[in-house]
Amino acid sequence: MSDVDEIKSRLNIVDTIGKILKLKKAGRNFKGLCPFHSEKTPSFIVSPDRQTFHCFGCGKGGDIFSFITEYHHVDFTEALEDLAATAGVTLTRKFTDSKEGSLRQKLLEVNHLASEFYQYLLMTHALGEKGKLYLKNRGISDKSIKTFSLGYSANSWDGLYKFLRKKGYDDDVMEKAGLVIKQRGIYDRFRGRIMFTLKDHRGNVVGFAGRVLDPDVKEAKYINTSETPVYSKSNVLYGLDVTKDAIQKSNEAVIMEGELDVISSFQAGISNVVAIKGTALTEGHVRLLRRFTDRLAFALDSDMAGDAASRRGIEIADGMGMDMRVVSLPSGKDPDEAARENAGLFKKAIKDAVPVYDYFIFSALARFDVATAYGKKKISEELLPVLAKIDNPIVQNHYVKKLATTIGTSEDAIAQSLQRNQKSAGYKESREPSPDAVVSTRPEKLEVYILALLLQGKTVELFEDLQEGNLLPEFSHPTVHKIMDALVSYLAHSRVFLIKDFGDGLPPELTPTLDEAFLWDLADIVASEESFIREWQRALAEFRKTFTRRKMYELTLRTGETDISPSQTDDIKKQLKGLADTLRSLEKSS
Ligand code: CTP
Ligand code: MN
Repeated sequence: MSDVDEIKSRLNIVDTIGKILKLKKAGRNFKGLCPFHSEKTPSFIVSPDRQTFHCFGCGKGGDIFSFITEYHHVDFTEALEDLAATAGVTLTRKFTDSKEGSLRQKLLEVNHLASEFYQYLLMTHALGEKGKLYLKNRGISDKSIKTFSLGYSANSWDGLYKFLRKKGYDDDVMEKAGLVIKQRGIYDRFRGRIMFTLKDHRGNVVGFAGRVLDPDVKEAKYINTSETPVYSKSNVLYGLDVTKDAIQKSNEAVIMEGELDVISSFQAGISNVVAIKGTALTEGHVRLLRRFTDRLAFALDSDMAGDAASRRGIEIADGMGMDMRVVSLPSGKDPDEAARENAGLFKKAIKDAVPVYDYFIFSALARFDVATAYGKKKISEELLPVLAKIDNPIVQNHYVKKLATTIGTSEDAIAQSLQRNQKSAGYKESREPSPDAVVSTRPEKLEVYILALLLQGKTVELFEDLQEGNLLPEFSHPTVHKIMDALVSYLAHSRVFLIKDFGDGLPPELTPTLDEAFLWDLADIVASEESFIREWQRALAEFRKTFTRRKMYELTLRTGETDISPSQTDDIKKQLKGLADTLRSLEKSS
């Protein structure tokens, strides 16, 4: 047995997750509040039969290993070590022996050394004088330099390279860490720059940002480590290793643009800060922050409302249940200046931050003239897509009212355009697993729902229903279709249905859908045989209607095609009539 299987056989996913979250029994499964998105009614299901979890709110799912990697933001090898320890399994291969694990480890090590090298140059070596002076002029204290591990890279081609060679690292590792560049020889990537050490939230050194000292040089102001096995810019927030406790305590994270904004603010006593380093907020960022707070305050240099990438970031964070505000900075100032000039005023500005959607309205009003019809059009064009994506209907309604008042139009008009916006965005899929809602949502959802009933009920008998009703070829959801095919072969060899057996035999790309179906909370329906059969019949009837409509639609499209002969047209018309009759009788009987 492999280490992974050994661990899985010794640990029960319900116990492991149950130690982290509160789980309640719900039928054959367990239910709790999802740790990966914010919710008030539980849609996070754990299955002891499948030893998997699935969240019907955000769609996350997997086995015990995926849970630990997601929850603790660790990589697979770290999760493996962690769970091996809990399970009392001695790993046959230490994770540092595995190729990936040892590379990661080596990269973190070499980065750590490089950071110490840069710090030494800045603080102790004569070469660092220039850097020291620069930071002093920017008002950065020695204490901050230590806290944030600031350093200096000398203006030479191979200072770091030689140092790391002496320490026994080979070129390959240095290059993979992004510290040196191989190009007709090998040379240091960062030269003559102030060095910001980039760390993950646990304090591992994952990369660097180097800033020029002289504002007039032609080179890029910043050079950053590009993506490496240990660094990805969308999953690291600058400063979080230092500031996470303050963020948790104050229950708010102030998000800034750059390293210097964070350092100056921290120095001025505003310590619940992080920087996104000039990029847009990503899901990875929000997931990191959400472990410490659900409130974000943006203190960015740019106008977020005018920028599509920022809007996308806000949409992501909204969907993840974050409360967001925008700090209004004194005009033309970045947080770095604001903190240095008047920390008290800056603190007050943070306290007075406005909810992000109010900010969007203000920003649009400042850019367009609300007195003109054209201005109203522009304002609503900018705001409707934003409001359409607000997750909570009460909050959404609040802003619909507000926008209506602001541009002097009726709430109905706004609500109508909003609906159009939501449709065109393919929006409004019910996320809650309520069976009533299911039948009215997209056809694909209905197919997963039928699979859910099938797997959680008397699978063998129900499957005969599908076969006898000739329904199997009608499944259009590609994964559900494949699972149905797999069931045909499985049941050809086995007279009983065992979910674990069946699941283990499926190709891995099908398991998320299998879990979605098998973990679907049907406790209320499965409770009585009678209600179950009724629901099954109802779902099948709905399914029949759906695919009949689809076929009619497809045929109607064909009649519009030009390469069709009159006799074909007649044939299509006949078919259409037949389908229309079927549909009518289906509708009558329901
Ligand atoms: N940034 C970057 N690459 C650039 C420019 C900026 O990665 N070429 C990121 C850096 O993380 C930087 C942040 O965006 O800290 C904000 O940019 P900016 O305000 O221009 O940098 P500062 O160092 O704060 O410059 P200034 O002192 O002029 O405000
Ligand atoms: Mn700046």
